[in-house]
Amino acid sequence: MEKLEFKKEFAERLKKADTLLFFTGAGISAESGIATFRGKDGLWNKLKPEELANFNAFMKNPDMVWEWYQYRRQIVDESKPNNGHKAIVDFEKFFKVYISTQNVDNLHARAGSTKIEELHGSIVRNFCIDCKTFYNHQELKFEKKVPHCEKCNGLIRPDVVWFGENLRGDAFPNSEKFAKECDICFVVGTSAIVYPAAYIPQTAKNYGAYIVEINIEPTELTYSADYSIFGKSGEILPQIFNLAATLKI
Ligand code: OAD
Repeated sequence: MEKLEFKKEFAERLKKADTLLFFTGAGISAESGIATFRGKDGLWNKLKPEELANFNAFMKNPDMVWEWYQYRRQIVDESKPNNGHKAIVDFEKFFKVYISTQNVDNLHARAGSTKIEELHGSIVRNFCIDCKTFYNHQELKFEKKVPHCEKCNGLIRPDVVWFGENLRGDAFPNSEKFAKECDICFVVGTSAIVYPAAYIPQTAKNYGAYIVEINIEPTELTYSADYSIFGKSGEILPQIFNLAATLKI
């Protein structure tokens, strides 16, 4: 990729910024070989979310849903964080960095980022639907059929948020805090249409953050972003980090 010329206003905001929020979606992991949900090769073009990513589907056919998640876990296990995930770690040298991700692939943590909220859960965790005991992916890695809880015999499901479910835990309120505190909110590789997650960049904007979108194409957010940079996040984020490094030393 050629060297990008960044907007002057953006460079000024970056120089002054203390706190950055990266609100990320499937696109940031595309260069690691993990399929996105929408778009040309998106998962939801080929598969029906109502048959795979909701609780009723799981109760109707738990083995099939389990098998689909085991397949996706295998892809994630075999993938590696890319230059986009790694650049976000590098920003920690100069800024307070928060991540609020819609991804369930654990790649931000594997890259080494420290402050991450997973809005849609994580496929490396599982829990019993009855007694809520947690089981990690490594413990259940070789289970071909849906496993049962060793304490109460309940079905074990992946700890991801399915269609029709509420977000669990503190991921959303904590992400809202990040949004209210950040000086710049980078919206990276997301179609920004799935709510409530998509409120996060809107909250950041309402609280005065500068909104920078990084995507290969325009999205729902483009009209309200302060700056949209079109291209692959694995190529753009390292260039933004280089700019930040020159501004901060
Ligand atoms: P989508 O698949 O909706 O959007 C992926 C975005 O990434 C698109 O806007 C692409 O243009 C962009 N993109 C693709 N490759 C890229 C690259 N190399 N660099 C930068 N951008 C790139 O994925 P999400 O927005 O994450 O929810 O989807 C949101 C939620 O919908 C997911 O978390 C999932 C899904 O249903 C649940 O499972 C609850």
